[in-house]
Amino acid sequence: MEIKLLPLFSTLSLIQVLVGVTHGAECIGLSADVVCECDGYGRCKKGTLEIDPWMQFALKTQREIQIDIPVDRMQIFDAHNAYNNRAYGLAYGANDTCQWPPPYDNVCLGLANHEFSIIDMLNMGVRAVEIDNWYCDGEMRIAHLGTPLAIGCGEFNVLFSDVIADIGQWMQEPGNENEFIQIYINEKYDQGNDAEVNGPMERYFGHDAILSPADLRNTYNGVWPTLRRMREDGKRVVVVSGGDTLHQGKYIHVKGCDGSGSNQFTNYPQCGGKTETNCKRFRGDATHYVFNVIYDGPTATGAITDLSEMVKCRINLPATDMVTPQLMKTAVYTWAYGEPSIPLDEDSCVMLNHEDFRWYTSADCDQSLSYACQSSTDPNDWMVSESTGPYDVTRELCPIGYKFSVPHNGFRQEKLKEVMNGASVWLNFTPWLTGDFPITETPPTDPTFNSANIIKPTWTKYLVLFLILLLGFMNY
Ligand SMILES: *[C@@H]1O[C@H](CO)[C@@H](O)[C@H](O)[C@H]1NC(C)=O
Repeated sequence: MEIKLLPLFSTLSLIQVLVGVTHGAECIGLSADVVCECDGYGRCKKGTLEIDPWMQFALKTQREIQIDIPVDRMQIFDAHNAYNNRAYGLAYGANDTCQWPPPYDNVCLGLANHEFSIIDMLNMGVRAVEIDNWYCDGEMRIAHLGTPLAIGCGEFNVLFSDVIADIGQWMQEPGNENEFIQIYINEKYDQGNDAEVNGPMERYFGHDAILSPADLRNTYNGVWPTLRRMREDGKRVVVVSGGDTLHQGKYIHVKGCDGSGSNQFTNYPQCGGKTETNCKRFRGDATHYVFNVIYDGPTATGAITDLSEMVKCRINLPATDMVTPQLMKTAVYTWAYGEPSIPLDEDSCVMLNHEDFRWYTSADCDQSLSYACQSSTDPNDWMVSESTGPYDVTRELCPIGYKFSVPHNGFRQEKLKEVMNGASVWLNFTPWLTGDFPITETPPTDPTFNSANIIKPTWTKYLVLFLILLLGFMNY
């Protein structure tokens, strides 16, 4: 008996390692579904989340192809109440018991809007973060007040300047020099203490990197510049507030995006009232205060667990709670998994595949395909060229009034899909491989990175497990 128990125990621990049940020894909840280093509460420590380079590159591509769209009309992935994440400790839900996604067990506690730190969210592709600041205990801090349950604000709350420092540090990391971030200061009323708000932004972002209300008036005549223009001018941050001019209007703009109508998003093609010219923010809410009696975010506001429809609709600010690698993967409409599989250079050719409607690099740029053609007057009017040809940006296969192009957002890709007629087409990705801001650095092409390491358990692990059990039975 004892002799047989020993191999049984070792088989059990092997099972745990293989299936990843107890990954990192004490990671819990959403932190147990990813690869990271956990703190004493079992939550991923700030900046330790491993992220699939394929996903990072695909979402980067989706930002870069919007380079000529004004920054107030781009699609930017937004973290609702980004500061209220479990990586900031107990006051921010580190000891929560609600299991994401809902429906929740009613008696659970869900103070947090997020599992992962702002730095990890930025690494996952989020570029808009919401921060609620409150002045208390002699300092400007971050706290979740002004909601049905005021948790209070005190010395245990993180300093506003520490949050801005985190973001500023991320912006300076190698590879992030060109990244643009929008910050939404959700201050319920102007609390004064201007130096405690403007000061950290100036210190950690740099005065010149912030596109201030004065810049917008004087340099851009009140018209929001494109991402390309911002980059040329060294501008990387836009700060907006809920409604009023805050802190002397030195850095904070009054927000121009419509965030009303939470819970009113409708799938493509209705798109919750999103049009080409308006700005729409739809948000979810993960919080849950005991027994549902006080507040349950998922029923009151919604739980966004898939971004694909918001991407098809080019919703400007899909403002989600519980940003995870799994969620962000649903935001990819461009590269197929493992693509680009051929390193990108100025001679690369990219096609939109007619079966999965994803982007692929082609080893044969001489093969004959139709071109994706965009109207010169209506950016959402697409055709495919009648004749086919090798990939060649100097050829004019598109009809008069149309140009060889690439869908700059999920909505335009839907319009292109609708006219594809069962054949793959060339996309004009060349402008993003040449010029001032080329994206030619490609992610590691090992397509097993993600499936093997991030999502567990995987079927291969179950297979190994099955074989081990089979061998075990054969031995006895
Ligand atoms: C947090 O949760 C752990 C595990 O349930 C518990 O041991 C600890 O006392 C909790 N901490 C606080 C401050 O509530």
